[in-house]
Amino acid sequence: MANHEEQFKKLVSHAKEYGFIFPSSEIYDGLAAVYDYGEYGSELKKNIRDYWWKSMVQMHENIVGIDSSIFMHPTIWKASGHVDAFNDPMIDNKDSKKRYRADVLIEDYCAKIEAKIDKEVEKAAKRFGEAFDKQQFITTNPRVLEYTQKIADITHRMNHDLEVNDLADLKKLVEELEIACPISGTKNWTDIRQFNLMFDTKIGSVSDEANTIYLRPETAQGIFVNFLNVQKTGRMKIPFGIAQTGKAFRNEIVARQFVFRMREFEQMEMQFFCAPGTEMEWFRYWKEERMKWHLSLGMQPENYRFHDHEKLAHYANAATDIEFNFMFGFKELEGIHSRTDYDLSRHQEFSGKKLQYFDSERNESYVPYVVETSIGLDRMVLAVLSHAFCEEKLEDGTERVVMRIPAKIAPYKVAVLPLVKKDGMPEKAREILEMLQPLYMCQYEEKDTIGRRYRRQDAIGTPFCVTVDSDTLTGNTVTVRHRDSMEQERVSVDRLAAYIAEKMK
Ligand code: GAP
Repeated sequence: MANHEEQFKKLVSHAKEYGFIFPSSEIYDGLAAVYDYGEYGSELKKNIRDYWWKSMVQMHENIVGIDSSIFMHPTIWKASGHVDAFNDPMIDNKDSKKRYRADVLIEDYCAKIEAKIDKEVEKAAKRFGEAFDKQQFITTNPRVLEYTQKIADITHRMNHDLEVNDLADLKKLVEELEIACPISGTKNWTDIRQFNLMFDTKIGSVSDEANTIYLRPETAQGIFVNFLNVQKTGRMKIPFGIAQTGKAFRNEIVARQFVFRMREFEQMEMQFFCAPGTEMEWFRYWKEERMKWHLSLGMQPENYRFHDHEKLAHYANAATDIEFNFMFGFKELEGIHSRTDYDLSRHQEFSGKKLQYFDSERNESYVPYVVETSIGLDRMVLAVLSHAFCEEKLEDGTERVVMRIPAKIAPYKVAVLPLVKKDGMPEKAREILEMLQPLYMCQYEEKDTIGRRYRRQDAIGTPFCVTVDSDTLTGNTVTVRHRDSMEQERVSVDRLAAYIAEKMK
């Protein structure tokens, strides 16, 4: 098994064992692509959500937040295009009876070619040693160039087929590439059909077609349909933004890679309303701002990259993804899209209500343009967990698993630990706990040896362990052990809260 697959499996079982993420309905054997967050996972998720909210809403005087409902008028999804076009091309293998997304099968094929390129680079790096110039190699080596061209040709044809909905040619492409089902190993495929990803349900007591509503597949439409309400009640002046976080639902055909692609997930979205003609400037601004937000968590810049879209949705005039280096490679974490006036204009058309803004500086009314930032909260949790997970061999020959979660978003910030369960140490430790609890999420533990308790805090990512020993009783100082370096410092109890605040910056 490839090393990264092994690592990923270990991460998934660590997440379960230490109360971050459980399979949903586990005692009934689970429900595919649905997960529950445990005591540490839900804290982590909440901290990421708060960190996002603070940076988007609290720190921008022209952005406000809302909380719209999951159920919305069904015509909203007609107007947004989701009823007619929120589809994935699905294909079944007749032997294994397994269902796949045709575009994912083709992308996986390209990823294999990409892996061959990586192998060539690795071999050449070994051969040339220090003199190796990767950039020069990948732009001149004939075999690498051939692979690169092949990927470009396949991607171009696939994108074109998807754009014009030529499902027959897409199937031809799967056949020409001789893609086999990973389960049965055969190439016995059905035709490709479009599959709508929205979940529907019935509202009210009469179960007929007219009562069909959808679980929202994105939170964004709740913002669009409240645009005028918020603009008026918040006395907002363009440019301004509306943010919201909340659940979204998609009946994903291929749901895999843990919380990366789920059927019920949470989004953090912001729609920024601006004057027509200024959207590209704001698109560039938000592209930069969002990358700064990611980097502020300290998870190394080389783990992020932009992927600008070549193929744009019909309503967009620019789009980029922020990709993160997950354990299974670089994948989309966040999307930033310049959506023009498409959504508001469509809602204006379908609702018959004017969704315009009077711009007193321009002395004209218009339908605003929109730049959207949209990030999956669960995907962000996965990015943090995969980056944090670390198995370490220590100098004394023992091993530890440490979750190097950025301190700002760690589930618990402090563990207060009496060295032994006697001599007044638990009482003193509880006093310190009471002092810190209003400020930070704290844990108190007195069971097991101190070494074991440190390991347990490492495994859930607690950045600071405060140990109460005999010197605490005489000199009112504690040791603060740092999770990542395992270094310990002696700190006066009077300074402890300020000391932790300083280290958390
Ligand atoms: N309003 C725009 C929108 O929804 P999207 O690219 O479909 O755009 C935005 O989704 C983000 O939501 C993605 O970048 C990803 O982080 C997250 N996301 C999308 N589908 C998801 C799924 N099935 N499971 C988990 N996260 C998902």
